Amino acid sequence: MDFAPTEEQLLVQRTARDAAERILLPRAAARDLSSEFPLAEMRELAALGLLGIAVPEALGGADAGTVAYSLALQELARGDGSVAVTVSVTNMVAELIAKYGSPVLAEAWVPRLVSGELVAGAFALSEPQAGSDSAAMRTTATKIDGGWRLDGSKQWITSGDHAGVMVAWAKTDQSAGHKGISAFVVPGDAKGLTVARLEEKLGLHGSSTAQLVLDGVEVPDDALMGVPGGGFALAMVALDGGRIGIASQAIGIARGALEAAVRYAGERHTMGQAIIKHQGIGAMLADAATWLDAATLMTLRAAYLKQHGQPYTQQAAMAKLFATERAWQICDIALQVHGGYGYVRDFPVERALRDVRATRIYEGTSEIQRIVIARGLLRTAG
Ligand code: CAA
Repeated sequence: MDFAPTEEQLLVQRTARDAAERILLPRAAARDLSSEFPLAEMRELAALGLLGIAVPEALGGADAGTVAYSLALQELARGDGSVAVTVSVTNMVAELIAKYGSPVLAEAWVPRLVSGELVAGAFALSEPQAGSDSAAMRTTATKIDGGWRLDGSKQWITSGDHAGVMVAWAKTDQSAGHKGISAFVVPGDAKGLTVARLEEKLGLHGSSTAQLVLDGVEVPDDALMGVPGGGFALAMVALDGGRIGIASQAIGIARGALEAAVRYAGERHTMGQAIIKHQGIGAMLADAATWLDAATLMTLRAAYLKQHGQPYTQQAAMAKLFATERAWQICDIALQVHGGYGYVRDFPVERALRDVRATRIYEGTSEIQRIVIARGLLRTAG
């Protein structure tokens, strides 16, 4: 067992940390107020190679692996959670098309995604009545001459309004349950694809969340990834990897909040001493630091397994469950340590608490992670 990151992983991490400090942190509070999409920031990150960390070199990525990707995403989230989720979903889409799209499809989209030309990718799986239960989707794909016509609506789509390209799931066979679902690569500017609504959220204001309508969107035959009816499994595989990204995002947000709380607790004095020396405050911060460390190790383990081609569904679900639940508690502790100052916008912990909340919901709620973990337990029990 080797806990030391490689030179390459450290380089990617340093690059991300520097980018977060220089590009993201200074504008994060303003972006929270303006809800502006981080267009310029995404392009700057792309120029630094941070959008294709785990993507093959042949498709414009750095091929530095999932561990480096997780380390980098933690740093970006420490700077701005909104940018981190935009990067995370873009990476998930790029990896999915790179691995399961035809060579023509992969070459057409992936280099443009990771270079920042298309800015963002979107993962159009959920629907108004089909969030946790993805297989209950109603969007249909009907065979037409030379391709498919997609009709339906998609909900909670990160970057849905800014996506240069998305993967959208639809039923090619309505009678086959999850085995009738297929995955399609859809250009962001496809005719018939419209934004019906942009959500107003508790946090992550710099990340857009759209409801999309697909009204007779036509795509060619080779836009279908894998085989007809194989789309549900592709979604699950992509979400296994995506969950490492969301765990990393939660860790980064929590780390930023904890650092702020430790700083504050060292500077703020009451009753003649720094408040960190009061047992109640010190103990809360000690617990928070311990949880953060455990979450980080679990997430890096899941990343390591993915990178080395080993099964990791269970470990990714555990990492996401633990990291996001604890990150929420850590951000709450960070706010509590700041007292009244934590509840107002002058300090960053108020935003961290709002931003981190979504991580317990998207890419599979904590309750879904527990289902995945429990089913895995049953399988390994024989
Ligand atoms: N890898 C590969 N295949 C998998 C798999 C995995 N991790 N998990 C399931 N499958 C396969 C199964 O083997 C099965 O295949 P067969 O029928 O060939 O045996 C098939 O998929 C169906 O599996 P289940 O019976 O387990 O499916 P289910 O309907 O009971 O659902 C679930 C399982 C885990 C609850 C799943 O529906 C799920 O993960 N739901 C949550 C969805 C989710 O995370 N949505 C997030 C939306 S995207 C998002 O948030 C992005 C964003 O913008 C931020």
